[in-house]
Amino acid sequence: MTTLENLCCPIDSELLVREARSLKCQHGHTYDLAKTGYVNLLPVQNKRSKDPGDSKEMVAARQSFLNLGCYYPVVDAILASWPNHALSKDTRILDAGCGEGYYLDELGKRLAFQAMNVDRTGLDISKWAITAASKRDKKASWIVGSNAHLPVPDGRFDAVLCLFGFPIFKEFSRALSDDGLLLLVESGPSHLIELREILYPSIHDYKPTYDEGVEGFELLSEQIEQYTFSLNSQADIQNLLSMTPHIHKASYDGREAVKQLEAIHLTADIKLRWYRKNTKENRHAE
Ligand SMILES: C[S@@+](CC[C@H](N)C(=O)[O-])C[C@H]1O[C@@H](n2cnc3c(N)ncnc32)[C@H](O)[C@@H]1O
Repeated sequence: MTTLENLCCPIDSELLVREARSLKCQHGHTYDLAKTGYVNLLPVQNKRSKDPGDSKEMVAARQSFLNLGCYYPVVDAILASWPNHALSKDTRILDAGCGEGYYLDELGKRLAFQAMNVDRTGLDISKWAITAASKRDKKASWIVGSNAHLPVPDGRFDAVLCLFGFPIFKEFSRALSDDGLLLLVESGPSHLIELREILYPSIHDYKPTYDEGVEGFELLSEQIEQYTFSLNSQADIQNLLSMTPHIHKASYDGREAVKQLEAIHLTADIKLRWYRKNTKENRHAE
């Protein structure tokens, strides 16, 4: 599988055909590949702001933090929890809101080690994130686009991963094949609690998400991945803070207190939920 195959024009949904360093639909809409090999399929009319998604600084901070390997156990957990061990060399994976590509890249490396060069696509609304991702991993397809209008035909993927992202379930369902899988990864109640206790005068109660289920999907499994890790420099602590919503939510005093830290021991508390797309067939089989 070469990259950037089986994608759709974001304007008229026609299939895009590769011509040298462009993708073109039958109505002549043309999308040039960037130098680093990604394609921007986010038309201006679908943008809510001039520079949507994570900023250049947030992307750089996330990249520096993730490269420390503190969230590598999440990669292990994704692979270990894959339903029915159904991941094969033919599985087509979308990382929806992939950020700077850490997880998709690491998954690709782990699968290549098992001689599985799977079709991997990463999509994010931030051009900064996709630029970084396309430099990091040359074997995946990288797209600037929105989860709200995935520029792909129906049934394009066998698994959609949404890691700390913004799920649009209807669109994920459309882009999934029958029996396709969806993984939601979110933070749990104790995630980074030690940092939050410094940032905030009191900690709000945890509000579970999608407790009532997710329309169009059946929950297959739910697991909590909990472990601890340490950061041993102010720069690493600031990188972590910059990639969380707390950078905007916390008070000035809270952020100043964090600036005094030289090290911190932290809890990672991460929830992984796997869902299967509901189709008529699998609904009747039960
Ligand atoms: C918290 S970050 C998580 C990034 C990555 N999944 C990770 O865990 O490292 C959320 C990402 O979602 C992207 N994003 C926000 N709105 C989006 C949308 N509508 N469609 C696709 N990506 C979106 C942001 O640009 C950002 O990269």
